[in-house]
Amino acid sequence: GNKMCQFKLVLLGESAVGKPSLVLRFVKGQFHEFQETDFLTQTFEIWDTAGQEQYHSLAPMYCGGAQTDTTNEESFATEELQRQACPDIVIALSGNKADLANKRAVDFQEVQPCADDNSLLFMKTSAKTSMNVNEMFVAIAKKLPKN
Ligand code: GTP
Repeated sequence: GNKMCQFKLVLLGESAVGKPSLVLRFVKGQFHEFQETDFLTQTFEIWDTAGQEQYHSLAPMYCGGAQTDTTNEESFATEELQRQACPDIVIALSGNKADLANKRAVDFQEVQPCADDNSLLFMKTSAKTSMNVNEMFVAIAKKLPKN
């Protein structure tokens, strides 16, 4: 029969990369140009680290996804994915704000091989246009352990 499983999804990434925006797009199909923080964390059990610097120390404690702002090379380069603490962890790397192609600071051609080497799901997403947002969350769900 069908069994209900619960998983924790954690969004990691520096401030302004679009963490709550991706959740809002996925859960409610909405996008706000000026996103208030925190309300999503209260409403949905998708944890959001709210751009806190401390996320570096939180990372090993939780299993989940991560996203970066592809218009900010530094945010992309400093992303820390600490998998060793969670053997079954599924990590998805979201190259968000893919709609802002003219501000692109991250070369997707360079990211893909790196994601492949580390068995990360990698998708260019846009919370604004909704590109790949459902696809990313569904791809994470499909990789979750089933026992
Ligand atoms: P906190 O750390 O919780 O503050 O969230 P965040 O800073 O990771 O991101 P937030 O969702 O608040 O988004 C930051 C800004 O980027 C907001 O003005 C969003 O409207 C905007 N934004 C988020 N996703 C996208 C996107 O895919 N495309 C564009 N063009 N803008 C986006």
